Amino acid sequence: MYSYQNNFLHLGKSSLKEIHQQTINLLKKRYDYVGPYYLYSQDILLQRINQLEEILPLCHYYFSVKSCSNIKILSLLQKRKGWGVDVVSQGEMIRSLKAGFNPQQIVFAGVGKSEKEITFGISNRIRSFHVESVSELKKIEEISTGLNITTGVTLRVNPDIQVQTHKYIQTGQYESKFGISKEELALCKNLIKSSSSITLRGLQVHLGSQILSSEPYNKALDALIELREIFSDAGKIEYLSLGGGFGVDYSSTLDTDIIKEFPMQEISSNLSSYKDLPCEIMIEPGRYISAYTAVLMTTVLYIKKKQHTNIVIVDTGMTDLVRPVLYQSSHPILPLQIKSQEQMIVDIAGPICESGDVFARNITMNMIEEGDILSILHTGAYGASMASQYNTRCLLPEILWTQDGCEIIRRPQTYEHLLELENI
Ligand code: LLP
Repeated sequence: MYSYQNNFLHLGKSSLKEIHQQTINLLKKRYDYVGPYYLYSQDILLQRINQLEEILPLCHYYFSVKSCSNIKILSLLQKRKGWGVDVVSQGEMIRSLKAGFNPQQIVFAGVGKSEKEITFGISNRIRSFHVESVSELKKIEEISTGLNITTGVTLRVNPDIQVQTHKYIQTGQYESKFGISKEELALCKNLIKSSSSITLRGLQVHLGSQILSSEPYNKALDALIELREIFSDAGKIEYLSLGGGFGVDYSSTLDTDIIKEFPMQEISSNLSSYKDLPCEIMIEPGRYISAYTAVLMTTVLYIKKKQHTNIVIVDTGMTDLVRPVLYQSSHPILPLQIKSQEQMIVDIAGPICESGDVFARNITMNMIEEGDILSILHTGAYGASMASQYNTRCLLPEILWTQDGCEIIRRPQTYEHLLELENI
């Protein structure tokens, strides 16, 4: 996917240097903005969608909006047949509706939905609530009764399945705060059977994120199929959802055939043995679709020489990309241009007043200088969507690169906008 041609970094056949030039001209002219930005590739987004549809043609796809929530990106997904969205807040519902999704293409997950959010979802008649507790189910039932609307509910079950990933993104083990434990499922079933305001649409699990093995999903599917039997007298189950979590390869620039990402093909083989199941199989991919779609473009501000390394301070930090400090994750970082074959050892760090604000430690790079542009790869998932304004820093602009050129899909935030809420 990324390679150097004549010492310039290319994304496929396009020179990132040229794209960068066009982008900065546009941002400068329109918003007088100079600084870091997220650059999305429409081609990669479409390639990832096509790839998933090819490997898992039997599934129904609900894109996890939290991974990448720009309205333009969502609208590209909305144009595809068979895609819905998995949202976790009223804000994500509003984004999805703005992007053109029909409420019947929206499922609403989240362990702490507020009354206001539940009312919003019910009134908009979304397809289903992915319910996380008996109390939440009761609340949905009460509000639906009050509004005289029948609401679709899906039970998110805690399957007690362990996965290998960072502990902050494991969700399917018994101790986790997510999902309804097996002990409480009978209560849920009774409530669903006794109420005419809620109707059972599905059963769901979500095991965690950045998972690289198919085995836990096979276990989860077996568990869902068994539960489907148990719930057969509680309503017509439209779907079983395996959640998301399909991991990507953060260690490579993807210019080889060996890409160590989630083996989607293995899920496909397992699913084909269930093709006669009288309900849909849903998945909720986020990262698998969005991670490779973006690079974070940043400029080297200062280089400090140390005995064993060089501290390279760039103009983007953990406020724009929090994954490295939060999950000790790494992203490939490449200069736009290789200027010399000589190498140097560097720490790449951001400008935020936190010692953890470091993107990479002790890596070897070709010589770079102050003013050079670096690309932080695979930042389309949980990059811009997790950004904050800590240190009173503005949120970054987002750019979509298509065959027709660059399009600004999120304006740079201004200080006026950032401080507006404090004009009391
Ligand atoms: N479905 C549910 C119910 C989820 O909670 C999530 C993610 C997904 C689907 C999509 O997961 P994905 O396919 O993107 O792995 N900020 C973390 C990841 C948090 C994931 C939260 N839930 C990171 O940057 O690694």
